[in-house]
Amino acid sequence: MATRTTPSSTHSQANRAQLDLRRRPRRLRRTPALRAMVRETRLTPDMFLYPLFVVPGEGQRREVRSMPGVYQLSVDEAVKEAAAAKADGIPGVLLFGLPDAKDDVGSAAYDPEAPVQTAIRALKREVPGVLVVTDVCLCEYTSHGHCGILIDEEIANDPTVEQLVRSALSHAAAGADIVAPSDMMDGRIGRIREALDHAGFPQVAIMSYAAKYCSAFYGPFRDAADSAPAFGDRRSHQMDPANVDEALREVELDLEEGADIILVKPAITYLDVIRRVKDEFGVPTAAYHVSGEYAMLKAAARNGWIDEPRAMMETLTSIHRAGADIIVTYYAREAARALA
Ligand code: PBG
Repeated sequence: MATRTTPSSTHSQANRAQLDLRRRPRRLRRTPALRAMVRETRLTPDMFLYPLFVVPGEGQRREVRSMPGVYQLSVDEAVKEAAAAKADGIPGVLLFGLPDAKDDVGSAAYDPEAPVQTAIRALKREVPGVLVVTDVCLCEYTSHGHCGILIDEEIANDPTVEQLVRSALSHAAAGADIVAPSDMMDGRIGRIREALDHAGFPQVAIMSYAAKYCSAFYGPFRDAADSAPAFGDRRSHQMDPANVDEALREVELDLEEGADIILVKPAITYLDVIRRVKDEFGVPTAAYHVSGEYAMLKAAARNGWIDEPRAMMETLTSIHRAGADIIVTYYAREAARALA
């Protein structure tokens, strides 16, 4: 058996062997100026898109119970909120609508007088330069809360796509800059692109929710948008959280069909997907920091369990660092003000 050294002498020998004084990464972390100089990722408010929930009526501003700081807004209030966001440096809003009435085919989705279409016109009139992006889906407009037309309790793809086309056209006619289909039906990007071009809206861009996962983190949104399915779930069209190669195939299809911007959703549980999409396609890539991700931070902060401003910035930085050029977030205004 070899001669045993004492624990303390082993320890100091190992220490001497490991210390390499030529390399001290801590040198560049010593002061705020040094840290800023070598910072690799920077958030700026112009990468944020701010979601708004538009309801009928006037003077309405109702906080969503599960999303502190997020409100259902009537058109006049949505205009004020978008103008304030613009003043904070945020270029645009993403509109969702709650209609007066729902039916089984979601026809309020293309009603020119519905809250979203009315809000688009008001925003374009009253908030110069604001970028108006609209969510295109049927779930807020169907009486059953599903994202499409049901035939024998299954979402029928092709008839649903025709409804989505009508909805996208009505948003374009009202003045939307970008339409954002979030439904995950097959072939809808190509049909919407073709319809927009034929109707004289070739300038309207498409941000496709190409890799949208069937996630537990959309719960609070369904309170905000009153869009929970009356039965069943969204597994037959949204993606399985376990898959990433499939996400790349979805992105490839949507780009072939004419998508201008690709969106991955949710964000923090899919940072690897964001990175792969950005690396493989190099197109403008957005990520949606969704309602449940926001609500978790808010809930922990309200309990005093985390430092919210720091957790917010760390979260948004991780999404940008993973490769997202655009971040859709309910934190847009808070983050923009923190960055100012
Ligand atoms: C519409 C849609 C949803 C979200 C965005 N668009 C809900 C869903 O798919 O159930 C979720 C956004 C969020 O959770 O913040 N289909």
